[in-house]
Amino acid sequence: METQKKFYLTTPIFYPNAKLHMGHAYTTTVSDCIVRYHRDVLKEKTYFLTGSDENTQKMVDAAVRAGKEPLVFLDEIVGKFSALFRELNISYDQFIRTTDQQQHWPGAQVLWKKLVEAGDIYKKEYEGLYCVGHEAFVTEKDLVDGKCPDHGVEPQFLKEENYFFKLSRYTAEIRRRIETDELQVVPASRKGEILSFLNEGLQDVSFSRPRKSEWPATLGVPVPGDDSQVMYVWCDALSNYITALGYGQENDALYREFWPGMHVIGKDILRFHAAIWPGMLLSAGVPLPKTLLVHGFITSGGKKMSKSLGNVIDPEELLAEYGTDAVRYYLLRHVSPFEDGDITHEAFKDAYNAGLANGLGNLASRIMQLAQTHLEKGTRPEPIALPAGYAEAFDAFEIQRAADFVWDEIQFLDRKITETAPFKVIKTDVEAGKELIFKLTQDLYRVARLLSPFMPETAEKIKTAVIENKKPENLFLRKE
Ligand code: MSP
Repeated sequence: METQKKFYLTTPIFYPNAKLHMGHAYTTTVSDCIVRYHRDVLKEKTYFLTGSDENTQKMVDAAVRAGKEPLVFLDEIVGKFSALFRELNISYDQFIRTTDQQQHWPGAQVLWKKLVEAGDIYKKEYEGLYCVGHEAFVTEKDLVDGKCPDHGVEPQFLKEENYFFKLSRYTAEIRRRIETDELQVVPASRKGEILSFLNEGLQDVSFSRPRKSEWPATLGVPVPGDDSQVMYVWCDALSNYITALGYGQENDALYREFWPGMHVIGKDILRFHAAIWPGMLLSAGVPLPKTLLVHGFITSGGKKMSKSLGNVIDPEELLAEYGTDAVRYYLLRHVSPFEDGDITHEAFKDAYNAGLANGLGNLASRIMQLAQTHLEKGTRPEPIALPAGYAEAFDAFEIQRAADFVWDEIQFLDRKITETAPFKVIKTDVEAGKELIFKLTQDLYRVARLLSPFMPETAEKIKTAVIENKKPENLFLRKE
């Protein structure tokens, strides 16, 4: 018997210093769509990981601003993360928290020890500029007018004795793996970007910081053998992708089953994932991930969303007004997974009316109205081979093209109803009319199958309507 194919996908783990915004909803929804394609359409065995990146200065700062104990603040925010993911129908298998001392810390420490055994960790007095927004050291040349251009704040000057990781050793090998696509970086433009960055050669990176007295003791993974230091947040965070699977622990069945997998990330964290992470894994003798899918940023009206511009679009508001599948539809069909994308209330409403109210919703009710009136019973069609265009698009992570494929089918069926006119045929030839309608219900069911990674609930509703031979509830009412 052919063994079932395995597929492992991760989202970035999110900083719990504020509630999640549209960009985070995007990363997670794209990830969910890809996983559902592998699990529900290709019938592979999948594992889907998400989580939160908790051992950070910015979380502590945000808690202080909110007047709350860091750990209380943390639980509240992380509770909101899972609530949003439920609303978006994100089918993750595990939510990892980097403060989890059972699931995360032991594996992170085993990985650290591997780097030590490889001779890649050394101690050094270090001074530099630290940007809390990036949770990373930055250099003078990264700054504009003395401030970090991404976060608009002046970095802090830090002088510390830290452990360093000899990342510089791995430049050539990382380069080779990316060039040959052993570590595939998608899209090609991001592959080019990281390769030219690697051309400059990698610097060693600071991999720990002194434990802060004002931090709770349960925050920050202790450096093995030196309790005065905690792991640098990116060293700690990146390791989640394998600690969640039980790497370095007694029960590492998931790790053996699913690693290596793929990571979905935004363009701002490419270097961490395509330089530091592979460096750590090479040092530890762990296989590298197969793929990094690097998406762009979501803007609104062409501008970064910000409170001062008043152009922030809150995923929760959209979900409350339009529902889960409408939000998923917009993100998956109208935002590119490779470049920056845009969302405004106007564009959302237009897309909703065209693609959902007039498109999919209208088609499903037209067909099922006919079926309910003229057919005696429903049907559950056998699966047929996946259309090549759809599978190719998904395999290349061209999510929009895969969605377009489904909407082309919808248009095709709309035309077919008009052209074959079963409602007329049935008046003169009952059997021929019924046959036409029956075929349309089968086609509709197949559309629902292809739709399921994008809009799982709607896909189920349509399938049920076909099986039970009844009109689905008003799927998407037009919005004026
Ligand atoms: N904690 C780190 C990731 C560690 S992974 C080992 C982090 N967290 S984050 O909360 O700041 O960002 C999480 C993800 O959201 C990143 O992939 C980032 O690119 C993405 N986005 C943040 N703002 C975004 C937009 N405006 N648009 C699209 N995605 C954006 O980075």
